[in-house]
Amino acid sequence: MAGNRSSKKKVGGNKSTKPSSSRSRKSKLPRLRVLSLFDGIGTGYYTLLQLGFDIEVIYASEIDKDALMVTKYNFSDKIKQLGSVTEITTEMLDQISPINLLFGGSPCSDLSGVNYRKKGLFNPEGTGILFFDNYRIWNYLNVKAAKENIPFHWLFENVASMENKNKDTISKFFECQPVVVDSLHFSPQRRRRYFWSSILGITELTCFQDMDIDIDEPKLEDYLEKNLDRQANVEKVGTITSKRSCLQDSKSRNPVCQDGQYTGLFITEIEVIFGFPQHFTDVGDLSISSRQKLLGRAWSVQVIRDLLEMLSEKFAKK
Ligand SMILES: C[S@@+](CC[C@H](N)C(=O)[O-])C[C@H]1O[C@@H](n2cnc3c(N)ncnc32)[C@H](O)[C@@H]1O
Repeated sequence: MAGNRSSKKKVGGNKSTKPSSSRSRKSKLPRLRVLSLFDGIGTGYYTLLQLGFDIEVIYASEIDKDALMVTKYNFSDKIKQLGSVTEITTEMLDQISPINLLFGGSPCSDLSGVNYRKKGLFNPEGTGILFFDNYRIWNYLNVKAAKENIPFHWLFENVASMENKNKDTISKFFECQPVVVDSLHFSPQRRRRYFWSSILGITELTCFQDMDIDIDEPKLEDYLEKNLDRQANVEKVGTITSKRSCLQDSKSRNPVCQDGQYTGLFITEIEVIFGFPQHFTDVGDLSISSRQKLLGRAWSVQVIRDLLEMLSEKFAKK
């Protein structure tokens, strides 16, 4: 198993007992102040912690009660929740400033190419329109950071299957083009996503795109539960979505064989494929399908990790 198999424990606990003043003296680099919009299960924060960043404060906007339960369980009260993005005002942004890093990944179901009933970017009854709240907040913080000379970096992610007209609209608002990154070369899952970002070097992540799958790349078989004699029928799986049946082929066959039968991935295997420790979403009485719903909307930790690592020279680490 490629992931962390240790027993379930909180992943965000501050293990250091040193006062923050003595920690920050170690580095002249600023500590990160983060705002994570559409925070989901806290993938951005989880990845920053994995990379060892010294985070002064993290605020988040999320409304899904299962997602909020997962982040609260894993990170205690470290993430300060602000409620819905639609309710975040400029006064609130002034109060939480300075912000050095803004994450955003608005809901993609109304933009995704696989949804034939998608409502698009502008329909007020859909979720695509939430992009404009991300833009509003980004614009305010971006202008403020330039005026006040605050280091400000940002990242906005969404599905690469969106229509070109929507990609072009988003690019117009952010005044830059996205890069496409597929988690394929970082994990055994295909997951093509657009990233708009100020983080320099992001284009380096795309250099893999045209390469064939390398022999040393992550393969599904390395992510399966070893003791149960499970065999992978494929090297890479397709995009894991919110549906348990998402990986079945046209004959309803699942990507794993166990005891001579086709079977789906265990939810703990999916957690590890996404780069989380096993049982990361195993909180309270959340069902397997609720956990898959949360994971199916999440970022791939491995991709975000490569991207955020580029901030290592700019912000303090512990
Ligand atoms: C594509 S998912 C983002 C997942 C996240 N990047 C992760 O890795 O878990 C979009 C998220 O936006 C949240 N959301 C939907 N409406 C929202 C709102 N009005 N304010 C804040 N979050 C919202 C959803 O609950 C969902 O978790």
